[in-house]
Amino acid sequence: MASSSSVNLEDVPSESLMTELLRRMKCATKPEKRLILIGPPGSGKGTQSPMIKDEYCLCHLATGDMLRAAVAAKTPLGVKAKEAMDKGELVSDELVVGIIDEAMKKPSCQKGFILDGFPRTVGQAQMLDEMLEKQGVKIDKVLDFAIDDSILEERITGRWIHPASGRSYHTKFAPPKVPGVDDVTGEPLIQRKDDTAAVLKSRLDAFHKQTEPVIDYYWKKGIVAKLHAAKSPKEVTEEVQKDRTKSCQIDGQSSREEGGKEMWLEVGWEERCR
Ligand code: AP5
Repeated sequence: MASSSSVNLEDVPSESLMTELLRRMKCATKPEKRLILIGPPGSGKGTQSPMIKDEYCLCHLATGDMLRAAVAAKTPLGVKAKEAMDKGELVSDELVVGIIDEAMKKPSCQKGFILDGFPRTVGQAQMLDEMLEKQGVKIDKVLDFAIDDSILEERITGRWIHPASGRSYHTKFAPPKVPGVDDVTGEPLIQRKDDTAAVLKSRLDAFHKQTEPVIDYYWKKGIVAKLHAAKSPKEVTEEVQKDRTKSCQIDGQSSREEGGKEMWLEVGWEERCR
């Protein structure tokens, strides 16, 4: 009898098998990469992640999505996380570090990962470093989605999501083909409970007080690339993808804390820059 974790491949359509086989062949030549996306709510981390994931064959680990799934399934973890999430506060470091540690072991993370929404406190960043050190690997680059708070309310309150896939839409900036309906499955879209102007205030407060120090933590390691996240989604994607030559010279230079004047880094995390 097949074990509960195995899949009966005879039931998988040939086209799906071939597509997955081709994807794996393409991915076999890709180097390993470990990325962190940091930015305030609505800065576009979730919007850019699928593109980065596909291009570099990484798994996308979004702590917010994982926690929402746990809340929906009413697991012990979800029950503990719900109250903080509804108020726009952070859940405890121990809870999120536990789910990330487990998630990183998935086969889809073999080539590395995108951490979206984690780490969000310096404590989480330190625990992540310890976790990675045990595996003999480290973070290659931190993408800082820099944006002014004033732009975020419109983005957050206009967002609609397809819970099953995590696909995100916006009534003005990225409308679905049919209002309220997912383009791919035709299923209804929902609004997140914390996507209100009032809860956004607490989420931004948590970002400035608890998460901005994480950016400084990584600046000191010289691995932060700052993006102009207020640009259009296409332009932000281009920034992520564009030629990285300049960053090769900038990597490792002064941090914001150490008095380096505010500079916009060209994004750079190609192997040839390392
Ligand atoms: P989480 O789910 O991580 O939410 P968040 O960080 O607040 O981020 P968002 O998902 O709101 O924003 P995003 O940057 O992904 O924006 P998106 O691309 O969708 O966390 C939720 C909660 O979980 C937290 O408050 C906390 O309680 C808990 N939690 C999670 N991780 C935790 C951790 N590590 N520790 C403790 N607690 C944790 O874009 C937003 C909208 O704008 C979309 O509609 C999109 O279409 C649109 N848009 C995107 N880019 C652009 C653009 N360039 N121009 C115009 N519109 C755009």
